[in-house]
Amino acid sequence: MKIFAYSVREDEEKYFDRFIAEHPGDHCSYVSEYPTMDNLELARGFDAVSIITNVITTEMYDRWYEMGIRYIATRSVGYDHLDVVHMKKLGMRGVHASYSPNAVANFTIMLMLMACRKVTFILDKAKVQDFSLPGKIGKEISLSTVGIIGAGQIGATVVKHLSGFGCRILVHSNHESEELKQYAEFVDLDTLYKESDIISLHVPGNEKNRHLIDSAAIASMKDDVILINTARGMVIDSEALIAGLESGKIGAAAIDTFEEEMGLYYKNLERERIVNRTRAILGTFPNVILTPHMAFYTEQSSSDMVGTTNEGLLAFESGAENLAEIGYER
Ligand code: COI
Repeated sequence: MKIFAYSVREDEEKYFDRFIAEHPGDHCSYVSEYPTMDNLELARGFDAVSIITNVITTEMYDRWYEMGIRYIATRSVGYDHLDVVHMKKLGMRGVHASYSPNAVANFTIMLMLMACRKVTFILDKAKVQDFSLPGKIGKEISLSTVGIIGAGQIGATVVKHLSGFGCRILVHSNHESEELKQYAEFVDLDTLYKESDIISLHVPGNEKNRHLIDSAAIASMKDDVILINTARGMVIDSEALIAGLESGKIGAAAIDTFEEEMGLYYKNLERERIVNRTRAILGTFPNVILTPHMAFYTEQSSSDMVGTTNEGLLAFESGAENLAEIGYER
């Protein structure tokens, strides 16, 4: 298998180098540049391209296909950025990454605690030597009801780790896991919205979940609810989120991902004019924590992202069962 990887970060290089050393019969090259129409030719002569959450236009898929690329790997768990319908039409197959669920689960719980205890506000104020108490009183997570939507690997890990805090945990999920029942109650969405002080999202980004959190959902939540999104931006309707923050219905939000983030993150834009009104508006609220889609980013996940996608690509060639393969449904 000949693999050409784009958008390779410094921290991923050693894992690609290790793969290259351990697979002398295969061929793998990488660059740090994101794929664009201007650099697609770099992948000529390869069987597969590996990307991250990059924008890939129809024209780009078509050109790669003409050049002989038959497989696409995305070094991310989510693959909503891939046009699977077009890939199916072309006959291209894809794989996605799997990595330690602890990465996102740990970050999610950190965000919950930060939001409960107003940590960003406290730190901002401490920087200007305002050590006063007004406006900084927190909520105890241990006394809260936490609602988890989606109990796949990450949601389930959040539930297990959260159980150590002693909070009441509600879960809404397609599958009721016997194991999780020792830590949490499985409930319908309405109950979760009505009874949760903190709501955390752990569902995939697909058409079914687009705007799961809209104005009606927010209206049925408890006043002062804390919303956490480390899943996918499209799960929350940004307009509804902003309206909920403006009205005071939402007490705090921690947003690692939002629907208009495509093309914005993982670059140093400190000298740039950023045209992104959603982020600009969200950034004005003192009760909003905005992290740049970093919940995944640990040494372990970086290693897993490269390893599991490259192994997934190799499985296409060997005919082994390919657990990393992406389905074509949206
Ligand atoms: C994923 O793996 O799905 C993520 O959200 C991280 C990715 C944006 C690099």
